[in-house]
Amino acid sequence: MATVKTKTVWFCKACGNESPKWMGRCPACGEWNTMVEETVATGKKNGPAAVSVPGSGHKPMPLSHIDSSVENRISLNNGEVDRILGGGLVEGSLVLIGGEPGIGKSTLSLQIPLHCPHLKTLYVTGEESAKQVKLRAARIGGDDSSCMIYSETLMENIIAEARAMMPDLMVVDSVQTMFSQNVESSPGSVTQIKETAAMLLRFAKETGVPVILIGHITKEGSIAGPKILEHIVDVVLQFEGDNRGTYRLLRSIKNRFGSTSELAVFEMTGKGLREVSNPSEMLIPMHEEGLSGVAVSAMLDGTRPFLIEVQALVSSAAYGTPQRSATGFDVRRLNMLLAVLEKRAGFKLSVKDVFLNMAGGLKVSDPACDLAVISAVLSSNFDFAIPSDTCFAGEIGLSGEIRPVAQTDRRIIEAARLGFRRIFVSSFSSLEGLEGQDVNGIEVVKVADVPSLCRTLFKGN
Ligand code: TYD
Ligand code: MG
Repeated sequence: MATVKTKTVWFCKACGNESPKWMGRCPACGEWNTMVEETVATGKKNGPAAVSVPGSGHKPMPLSHIDSSVENRISLNNGEVDRILGGGLVEGSLVLIGGEPGIGKSTLSLQIPLHCPHLKTLYVTGEESAKQVKLRAARIGGDDSSCMIYSETLMENIIAEARAMMPDLMVVDSVQTMFSQNVESSPGSVTQIKETAAMLLRFAKETGVPVILIGHITKEGSIAGPKILEHIVDVVLQFEGDNRGTYRLLRSIKNRFGSTSELAVFEMTGKGLREVSNPSEMLIPMHEEGLSGVAVSAMLDGTRPFLIEVQALVSSAAYGTPQRSATGFDVRRLNMLLAVLEKRAGFKLSVKDVFLNMAGGLKVSDPACDLAVISAVLSSNFDFAIPSDTCFAGEIGLSGEIRPVAQTDRRIIEAARLGFRRIFVSSFSSLEGLEGQDVNGIEVVKVADVPSLCRTLFKGN
């Protein structure tokens, strides 16, 4: 009889790296204090050898013989989710939805089957009881006739049940509560999470059933447990945003079947998540004219242009070292922009506290926001309001020059569509895409550097 031997190993919670002993710092990803102890089986199982026998299974074949027909996609009756998936859910794909607790992962993944009565769905819940799921479904509304709820956490049972039922869609909430008998450690541990994901992947690939898997996110912002999970699954969607506010952003950070860095916007209402197909509606100022420290940036997230309000507050530093703080924007980039303003344009900001905030809880990484950031900072510093029909799109270089950004024409078209009358862009921008477009209502102001921006923007002050 084969006895299963076990040994103790250490896993890094951040990257999944395995080590025979504890280390303060993970040698693979460099994170400190992330090693956790786990027991794994080492005994050889009495299975077939892992060497493949010639003549069996798959063989190498010419690329030209491989079937390249487009993968089958299933529409989820949700425009935003379909779009970030690249046009619907691909058959046999494993999709991971990550996010902090309370942000709306369970709500979205229950809402999908309720709005898709034509799909036979198996909804596995390890986190909530079947009754809690029922209450949530009652809030969301929709058609629950084809949605089966299965309250279970043992992976072997779940896979057996799924194979018997052969649903059109399977949802597993959440990977941290599931466990397999093959692995010794407790649910939520790195080895269990890896095993659960691997079992679901095998099931999805063998049967062609798409699986949506929910995963929690740690305080540090990574999907709890292992980054390894991100390598296993086909698609990673991550919920962002402030879970006290009502807007939720779903970002695609990995997609084997579509583009990444796509963004979907939802609003949490009393009846589940509402699609926000025009995100500018939430990001554009809703106050009167004449507030200083506010500038609108024409930004691009993924393939989508939208306008977002950038707010800055500049005040005299009360203590020795001035504070610099940014929400939704990289503080190092803010410091760089302030240094450029100081050195290249002569503004004395080193004795000022600077606070920066992006509207709607959005995290912005588009360099085109630079121009709006410095405009908001200058506007607050001089207490001079920028007209609310003006917006900005440009990157700032270290020598104070304003550099062109990708797809300036699309940003201008979006700004014109939303009724803006003036947009500041780099003088080196190419505007070829504007021909034949309806942008007559908007004046495109080209600026070459920070001093010329100040002259044009604050003319007469
Ligand atoms: P939930 O989807 O359970 O989050 P997660 O699975 O990511 O932990 O939580 C959603 C939150 O939204 C919860 O605080 C309750 C609230 N909510 C609504 O506001 N409206 C609704 O229709 C539903 C179902 C939940
Ligand atoms: Mg949940």
